[in-house]
Amino acid sequence: MAGKQTLTIIKPGAVSNEYIGPILAKINSAGFHISAMKLFRLTRNQAQNFYSIHKGKIFFNSLIEFMTSGPVVVAILEKENAVQKYRKLIGATDPSKAEEGTIRKMFAESIERNAVHGSDSDENAILECDFFFSKSERYSIFE
Ligand code: CMP
Repeated sequence: MAGKQTLTIIKPGAVSNEYIGPILAKINSAGFHISAMKLFRLTRNQAQNFYSIHKGKIFFNSLIEFMTSGPVVVAILEKENAVQKYRKLIGATDPSKAEEGTIRKMFAESIERNAVHGSDSDENAILECDFFFSKSERYSIFE
């Protein structure tokens, strides 16, 4: 499974702007299979643990406030070389630096309110998928 899955979060800003559908359409058009998905509001504890690598950074508290401000959509996406291909589809973290046609260029408001999260490595993808989904909640095309 390593290399074939990535985790995405459609963040509160994109959800409240009614961008769930358009973002999922971009994901499907790019050939990703959605093997798990849920809509819910992160608790403070979940957000702090998920983003624990950024603890101590200047934007950490604001990021946690934002990520808990409303519901998110969390999904596992499958495709060969999923992490790299999804990062290309979403574009740079800062939407002002993202390429035309990328999800962040189209739907993000700022570096913090940047529409979606995508795992940054195969190793983290496995950890992040396990953070949100049990094995029985997944419908993989690869197993
Ligand atoms: P994400 O891919 O979810 O991973 C960590 C998030 O922290 C990132 O997207 C941004 O939303 C946010 N982030 C990263 N750098 C900054 C920054 N310099 N200022 C504000 N938010 C940031």
